[in-house]
Amino acid sequence: MDLTSGELCAKKLDMQRSWKDIKRLTEDEAREEIEKLGEEINYHNYRYYVLQSPVISDAEYDRLFRRLQALEEHFPQFVTPDSPTQRIGARPLEEFGVVKHTVPMLSLNNAFTEEEVVEFDRRVKKLLGTTGDIEYAVEPKIDGLAVELIYVDGLFVQGATRGDGYTGEDVTQNLKTIRSIPLKLLSRKKLPIPRKLEVRGEVYLAIEGFKRLNKEREKRGEPLFANPRNAASGSLRQLDPRITASRPLDIFCYGVGVVEGIEFRTHMETLAYLKDVGLKVNPMVELVKGIEGAMEYHRRLEHMREELDYEVDGIVIKVNSLSQQETLGVLSRSPRWALAYKFAPKEETTIVKDIKVGVGRTGALTPVAVLEPVEVGGVTIERATLHNQDEIDRKDVRIGDAVVVARAGDVIPEVVSVIKDRRTGGEKRFTMPDRCPECGSRVERDGAIHYCTGGLTCPAQLKETIRHFAGKRAMDIEGLGGKHIDQFVNAGLIKDVADTYYLKKEDILKLERWAEKSAENLLRAIEKSKEPPELSRLIFALGIKGVGEHLADVLAERFSSLENLMNATYDELTEIPEIGPETARNIVSFFGEEHNRRVIEKLRKVGVRFPQKRPEAGRLKDRVFVFTGTLEGLTRDEAKELVEREGGRCSDSVSKRVDFVVVGKEPGSKYEKAKKLGMKMLSEKEFKKMLGLE
Ligand code: IVH
Repeated sequence: MDLTSGELCAKKLDMQRSWKDIKRLTEDEAREEIEKLGEEINYHNYRYYVLQSPVISDAEYDRLFRRLQALEEHFPQFVTPDSPTQRIGARPLEEFGVVKHTVPMLSLNNAFTEEEVVEFDRRVKKLLGTTGDIEYAVEPKIDGLAVELIYVDGLFVQGATRGDGYTGEDVTQNLKTIRSIPLKLLSRKKLPIPRKLEVRGEVYLAIEGFKRLNKEREKRGEPLFANPRNAASGSLRQLDPRITASRPLDIFCYGVGVVEGIEFRTHMETLAYLKDVGLKVNPMVELVKGIEGAMEYHRRLEHMREELDYEVDGIVIKVNSLSQQETLGVLSRSPRWALAYKFAPKEETTIVKDIKVGVGRTGALTPVAVLEPVEVGGVTIERATLHNQDEIDRKDVRIGDAVVVARAGDVIPEVVSVIKDRRTGGEKRFTMPDRCPECGSRVERDGAIHYCTGGLTCPAQLKETIRHFAGKRAMDIEGLGGKHIDQFVNAGLIKDVADTYYLKKEDILKLERWAEKSAENLLRAIEKSKEPPELSRLIFALGIKGVGEHLADVLAERFSSLENLMNATYDELTEIPEIGPETARNIVSFFGEEHNRRVIEKLRKVGVRFPQKRPEAGRLKDRVFVFTGTLEGLTRDEAKELVEREGGRCSDSVSKRVDFVVVGKEPGSKYEKAKKLGMKMLSEKEFKKMLGLE
């Protein structure tokens, strides 16, 4: 078998590595290790980001990466442009350079109906002088932005946007931050690496990443991206590559420009080659015979569209044979050998009939456009979110406006833009009410968001809180859905989450649409939920502002019991790297509130179990410690051993990669440096507390 050195290295990984102290390495040893590590890390990037099948743990990967960084810091003369450390850290640019594409980057003709596709096939056959079935490669049309990657002797040297097809912008630094783009092509024995290889592909942002990005922007009061394509384009065209690096961009490669030294016969062969040298190619590319096959593929993909974690706006049909492609040629700016067969658009035009305000669990008011019903991408929508007042002002949405609405993946439909040309003058501006539409309490504004101040006296907040509490990932009360919650709250049976456990059959039966059996089923499900399998579920269920599933896990891990968490101080909470000052304040104030303490007590009384979490080994997973000064109750070695036993690491020097500096008696220069860098310091006592020793 034909293994790359990366693969060979991966095989050796089971062996415990013992690294020599960097200061004692000779130059030759350092160069060799830097080279090997670089190759090895690049290979793991490929396994993780391209094949999506890693062969080592994240922690092991981090260890390799840190070792390489440390080596390169000491031996900067051996840093190569394809080193994995070179993906990040480039300086912001003043402006992008211009890149001329050697072979123009063409666009595609679009088809929207089967007739147009049949017509395309007829023309292809006519021009090729054949009546037989044509072999077509069919692939998803990714909704992102086209780029070109230039490899010289296997090294990634330049990357550009498509621009106008003839010249684009030089976004090399930004493309380097995308982990699925190899900085060096994989070399396998049988595969020649061409002197020059121009690769074309589509950079995109996965739907999950898009949603996360918009959520963060909403929190910071920044304008939101309308769809993943705009977000990808905005992210790639950043002058500061650090911003690009923070966005989870990805790529699918679908073609080539200039290739020197290799001849391909078909499109499929080209893609197979790209895949073999480590580039990411969409796994759903298929070869079909005849245009019927392409149409069947279109139907299949349109069905799967919602399941994909990236946006697809159609399929691309390409004549597979490159010699046939050549015969067919190009007309104006589109090839005659390819066609984009689009899906039903996910954007439509409709009218805003009204703007209503919804109240969420935290009291946040969300303006929602009530629309003239319209079908978007196969689904009828009647409402679309307007996010907040700033977004309404930015887009200048008014009641009566004609607007463009869009759906992206399973994201809630939203109003993208207003068609101002269609205004008649009768449109009405909207402003947030100063009283909550559900309970009449005062509304306060915090940043971009307006909040109802009614707390749980507001029925809308109460209903959402209970919905969250009963949810699958919280207390998981099967059958306690939205409508029932509305009924129970409206009837005054539930006034806080704990009341759920005090529901009585006779009270439920007094309500409409309930029968003996359904009431019993619900009560059984409620009873069952009294035993949450993990503490983190209960913490999450409480619905503390800013505490999602991940933080609930972190808190359960750190505090082991609800009791401990209830007594946690602001300082203890902010010591946890994942928790910022705002969330820490939210947690402290949540448990400080009399009402919440009463609800927790009610839960305990009614028999809800509050699981305890045993502190596990590994609570310091991946945390890096530095010690300075003399510790009193421990030797330095003992302290290091304790850290390592809990999954942490120790370093001899202070750098940005260090999480905690433990300060003993008479600390030395490391203390001064750490102070300058504003690093997190721990006293011996705090350190022991972190380890559960005090
Ligand atoms: S092939 C000459 N394949 O669609 C053929 N394009 O309208 C050039 N696109 O600029 C493109 N997925 O940004 C091709 N699988 C795919 C594609 C794809 C998305 C985009 C690309 C191009 C645009 C053409």
